[in-house]
Amino acid sequence: MGKNELEAMEAELRDPIRTIGVLTSGGDAPGMNAAIRAVVRTALAKGVKVRGIRRGYHGLLKEEIIDLTARDVSDTIQRGGTILQTARCQAMRTEEGQQKAAAICKKYGIDGLVVIGGDGSFAGAQRLADLGVNTIGLPGTIDLDIACTEYTIGFDTAVNTAMEAIDKVRDTSTSHERCSIIEVMGRDAGYLALWCGIANGAEKILMPEEKDFDETALVEDILECKKRGKKNYIIINAEGIGDTMNMAKRIEDATGMETRATILGHMQRGGSPTCKDRVYASVMGAKAVELLMEGKTNRVVGYQHGEFKDFDINEALGMKKSIPEYQYDIAKILAL
Ligand code: F6P
Repeated sequence: MGKNELEAMEAELRDPIRTIGVLTSGGDAPGMNAAIRAVVRTALAKGVKVRGIRRGYHGLLKEEIIDLTARDVSDTIQRGGTILQTARCQAMRTEEGQQKAAAICKKYGIDGLVVIGGDGSFAGAQRLADLGVNTIGLPGTIDLDIACTEYTIGFDTAVNTAMEAIDKVRDTSTSHERCSIIEVMGRDAGYLALWCGIANGAEKILMPEEKDFDETALVEDILECKKRGKKNYIIINAEGIGDTMNMAKRIEDATGMETRATILGHMQRGGSPTCKDRVYASVMGAKAVELLMEGKTNRVVGYQHGEFKDFDINEALGMKKSIPEYQYDIAKILAL
């Protein structure tokens, strides 16, 4: 018997899913509401009850659990943030917290759980799956730092928000013929920096993944660009490198060019989701419910090579992702 047939047989023998819980965990991301809405409405359409868990795993441990109807998610697809609120939860990293969370799911009849968040949230979902709660993870983070997927809910909106803000900084930077160093979020990953660097035509992109950063060479390049007639010099600095304020001071001292620092901060996480985030998050939400109905558990939904796919959470957490070198090289050439 083939693997698929075996899985189908096992799924048939399992109890059918009657109640699905949904929570958002970690940093919020635009599009999370579209995913919640899709989970709720797909489940209800299949005759399954839905419970919303407020404030992520933290709320689960505090039993902040509400019933969700189709109307509860009306007028939410266009909203940023998450209607369920979110939190980072230390207790869910402990065996005691995980056991308690699984017991609470059972108490509320939650036999399927959709967790929308990043890698840390998936580690919790994996433990719940081990403890008998069917779980599906959806990648929700503006950082794009989840290895099994080329798309994460919120990245598209965040990168567009950052791009628009940087365009504005650029206007004033050109008028004053200044150097501007702009810090974008991304935790330890440089995807936001790389995309903004290309989209905003930055002269320099600094990312934690590139180990060859040399500030002396940067100063020389700024002076060289000035000689070539450039009216400004835009540096996109990833949060993972940081030190933006001090770097601006050092650059100004070394080049004599007026330099200003801007840290974009949390504005990158807010705002109405883009069309892409609304559509992809909706598809992922619906797929999560379908996977649960097929009897699947311990899976994470990803997007690869033009397709929505699901991966074993253990395997997904073990995968590695790297910055596309080709894009980085192109960015350098285009900065000419
Ligand atoms: O993971 C999303 C993110 O916005 C990161 O880019 C950033 O490092 C972090 O969250 C900020 O977290 P907080 O909102 O807790 O300050």
